[in-house]
Amino acid sequence: MNWVYPRIIAHRCGGALAPENTLAGLRKAAEHSYRGVEFDVMLSGDGTPVLIHDETLERTTDGRGRVDETSDAELARLDAGGWHGAQFAGEPVPSFGDAAELCQALGLWANVEIKPSRGHEAETGRKVALEARELWSGLPPPLLSSFSLEALAAAREAAPELPRGLLVVEPPADWLKRLRRLDCLSLHCSRRHFGRRLLDEARRAEVPLLVYTVNDPDDAMQLLRSGVAAVFTDRIDLLPDWPA
Ligand code: G3P
Ligand code: MG
Repeated sequence: MNWVYPRIIAHRCGGALAPENTLAGLRKAAEHSYRGVEFDVMLSGDGTPVLIHDETLERTTDGRGRVDETSDAELARLDAGGWHGAQFAGEPVPSFGDAAELCQALGLWANVEIKPSRGHEAETGRKVALEARELWSGLPPPLLSSFSLEALAAAREAAPELPRGLLVVEPPADWLKRLRRLDCLSLHCSRRHFGRRLLDEARRAEVPLLVYTVNDPDDAMQLLRSGVAAVFTDRIDLLPDWPA
């Protein structure tokens, strides 16, 4: 299998052990000896790439409104940790730059999910790719992935040398054609839509197949043994890191 990256990846930085998409989550992943993390990157109202999953602030911060209408100064005042537990109160919404720096300091490989808000697909793909190139300059780069074909195409145009993953919920019948068109390295699909046929297709095409989000340790081990390249998990407390 042409997959050289970690085979168990902490989902949204630190999985269930920390508030999602935070620096505290990256530290948790490293504390649990993880070598790979996934996180989501969206543009702020000022066009700055920041780590956040939803297009709105309510679920994971004490702010209100849309991320793409919130300035960097306003974002800096938000608490992105208190909702998870008192010990994380005051945890900031990290910039992509801060997350990259911490990943490098902790020796974490990253799958950067480009998560554009509606209407910002190409701009987000381009900016995240250009910033990733800069942030990981001279180092092994992260893997960029996205549900948005437009974002992936823009990332490819901006920084073609960075590896890309095609992210889907349910793989469409023509997934391989789409993947090749965007020159992607890997296919990332939901556990709910993973099946033997897909695994065989991916194997025949020599495309690493990644599955999210796998929280049952036995299921994860079975998937990895069957030839799945990597799984994303929230349960970094239950799943040990897997030897490369
Ligand atoms: O990249 C895998 C996974 O993170 C995709 O779904 O919604 O958790 O970003 P989501
Ligand atoms: Mg994600």
